[in-house]
Amino acid sequence: MSRTFIEAISHRRSNYHLENISPVATTHILETIDRILSVVPSPFNVQSARIVVLFDEQHIALWDIVERELESRIPKDIFAKTRQKLHRSFRSGFGTILIYEDEATLNKSRIDTPDYAENVNRWSEQSSGMLQFALWTALEDMGFGASLQHYNPLIDKAVSERWLIDKSWRLIAQMPFGLPKDNPAPHIQKLPIHQRRLVFGFEE
Ligand SMILES: Cc1cc2nc3c(=O)[nH]c(=O)nc-3n(C[C@H](O)[C@H](O)[C@H](O)COP(=O)(O)O)c2cc1C
Repeated sequence: MSRTFIEAISHRRSNYHLENISPVATTHILETIDRILSVVPSPFNVQSARIVVLFDEQHIALWDIVERELESRIPKDIFAKTRQKLHRSFRSGFGTILIYEDEATLNKSRIDTPDYAENVNRWSEQSSGMLQFALWTALEDMGFGASLQHYNPLIDKAVSERWLIDKSWRLIAQMPFGLPKDNPAPHIQKLPIHQRRLVFGFEE
C-alpha cells in the first residue's frame, strides 16, 4: 500500500464518473482481490464470501443487464436520466466486482454452531461489509475510483444465468471501478465527531 492505512481509508470515496482505463496491470487487481478475500475476517472463519470479477465485454454485459431490467420498470421520461447515469458512472468504467455470500456455507455454519444460528445472517452481512470496504479502499489505493451499488435482487436472475453462478450464491452488491474522471466533493460530517465518539478514563 502506497499510503498509510488511515490515509488509504480517508482517500476512499464514491466516485460516479469513471473511465475505461486501468492504472495497474489486471493481474495486480486480481492478486489484490485474492489477498483481500483470503484475509478479511468472518464469523468462526466461515469464509462465506464469494466474488465474481468482470472486465471488458463481460463488465459491459452486466451494465446492459441493469439497463434492461430498469428500462422495463421505469417510466420512459425518467429512464433517459437513469440511462445517462448508468453509462457515465458504471458502464464507462474498467470493471465490476460482484460480491456474494454463499448460502450453503452459511447453512453449514448454522448446523455446526447451533447456539449462534440466529446470528448467521447478521454476521454474514457484517463480514461482507468488511470485505466490501477493504475492496473499495484497495481499488482507490491502486488509483481507481469506485462506488457501491445494489441493483440486486432486480438483476439476480439474469446475472446468474449469464455467468452460470452457483444457485447457492446470493448477490449482495456490485462495485464498479475505473479511472476517476473527477474528484468527489469534500466529506460531509453531519455531526461534530465528538457527538459520535465517547471516551471514559481519559481527559482530552
Ligand atoms: C451499506 C452501504 C450501502 C450503499 N449503497 C449504495 C448504493 O446502492 N448506491 C450508491 O450509489 N451508493 C451507495 N452507498 C454509498 C454511500 O452513499 C456513500 O458511501 C456515502 O454517501 C458517503 O460518501 P463517500 O462514499 O463518498 O464517502 C452505500 C454505502 C454503504 C456503506
